Amino acid sequence: GDLCAGRYVYVQELPPHFNSDMARDCEALSEWTEAGKCKHTANGGFGPPQPSSGVEETVLFQGQETGGWYDTEEHALDIIFHDRVKRYECLTADSSLASAVFVPFYAGLDVARHLPGKGRYHVATRDEMALAMVEFVTARPEWRALGGRDHFFVAGRGTWDFRRSQDDGGGWGNKLFLLPAVRNMTALVVEASPWHLNDAAVPYPTGFHPTTDEHVFLWQHRLRELKRQSLFAFFVSGAPQGTEEDPKSVSSHLVKQCAASSACSLVRDEDSSPAAAGIMKLYQSSTFCLHPRGGAGDAYTRRSIFDAILAGCIPVFFHPGTAYVQYTWHLPRDHARYSVYIPEEDVLRAGAGNNNASSSSSVEETLRKIPPDAVERMRAAVVELIPTVIYADTSSRLEASSVPDAFDVAVEAVIKKVTKLRKDLVEGRAEDEKLGKFGWKYPLLGEGHKVEDPHEWDSLFAYN
Ligand SMILES: *[C@@H]1O[C@H](CO)[C@@H](O)[C@H](O)[C@H]1NC(C)=O
Repeated sequence: GDLCAGRYVYVQELPPHFNSDMARDCEALSEWTEAGKCKHTANGGFGPPQPSSGVEETVLFQGQETGGWYDTEEHALDIIFHDRVKRYECLTADSSLASAVFVPFYAGLDVARHLPGKGRYHVATRDEMALAMVEFVTARPEWRALGGRDHFFVAGRGTWDFRRSQDDGGGWGNKLFLLPAVRNMTALVVEASPWHLNDAAVPYPTGFHPTTDEHVFLWQHRLRELKRQSLFAFFVSGAPQGTEEDPKSVSSHLVKQCAASSACSLVRDEDSSPAAAGIMKLYQSSTFCLHPRGGAGDAYTRRSIFDAILAGCIPVFFHPGTAYVQYTWHLPRDHARYSVYIPEEDVLRAGAGNNNASSSSSVEETLRKIPPDAVERMRAAVVELIPTVIYADTSSRLEASSVPDAFDVAVEAVIKKVTKLRKDLVEGRAEDEKLGKFGWKYPLLGEGHKVEDPHEWDSLFAYN
């Protein structure tokens, strides 16, 4: 048979101003150019290769002969994904054969041109290209087959950049994800909304884009052998002075705890997307890495989650919105296998000086209580995850890879989602939009459970 049966993807080609023109005219991508980062659109979105000197590359990157390390911008996924789709092994020119339709709209790059959106750009300017994209795709014959339910695209930023609810000039970002047509499509983002069904989270791109499976295996092998000096590490990015004193800020409590412990390595960086070398060095020398929510603004997620996995550092999460309800296609459902969960309220309680109760133990105490063999098992699980969370470089690949990467996992999941939708539509089962507010819960449902059933995290995702 046909190895591509059930896996065909049709690409809905768009005029170049929806994609390649934006990458080419990168000076206009304001956020990136302010820091002189036009270079980040280079090499199919991987950015410039890591220099082979000037960093302790033998320590950090295992020598340049293995290659594959770049200075990749965390919001470059629009370009990376499109470049990869072009080399997807099961493309078809016949849309009636396709299981899913990819729309190469650079939604993340588009919105970035008009951020920060408050006041500075009129809402009509911010929404212009989103509306034009919808007008284009909905007029195509391919749209009619399923009302766009089989269409997907990449918006390599957080969901809240695309969910502006007001049209009065206030609010943040554009309203792409609120458009009726786009509500039928699937948007791949680096942070999804827990309360909507039309976006899905995929890993942030990191700096590792290996060209062969062998590169990945060598890297994994090296991480297993590594001696790690500190118990835990905390990388604080772009933290303004003010928030650190906020008693309700989990981050500020973690900064205090980390600074006070000789077992913790604390690194602050004013730049929210720091050089890979610094962060890899920190994460490779620590057993556990702390990831509170709020890398930037109100975000639940941070790119450093994936930097830590790449360094074989066991992630410590404080809110299920940071990873467990996000990257459900890429990370194991049983989160205790590869990570530690310390509820935010435990950190806040300990920080309030309530030291008489056992529930108020510090992060360090909690981590020290984990037996060494359990730590070993978790680290092994983290290292095993690496192939699944990286975007490999397939440009010079001669044979198919034996290990699926983040792209393969995402495409497979989209196809599975669309296939189920198609079946539901045929059998007259319409998706209940009202239950979208439980979006976070769907992937966690066990056999025979309903989204309305109580869940231990309900209060953390209370919806109003
Ligand atoms: C969205 O999909 C439904 C079918 O599920 C269809 O009836 C509707 O027209 C689609 N919306 C748009 C804007 O095409």
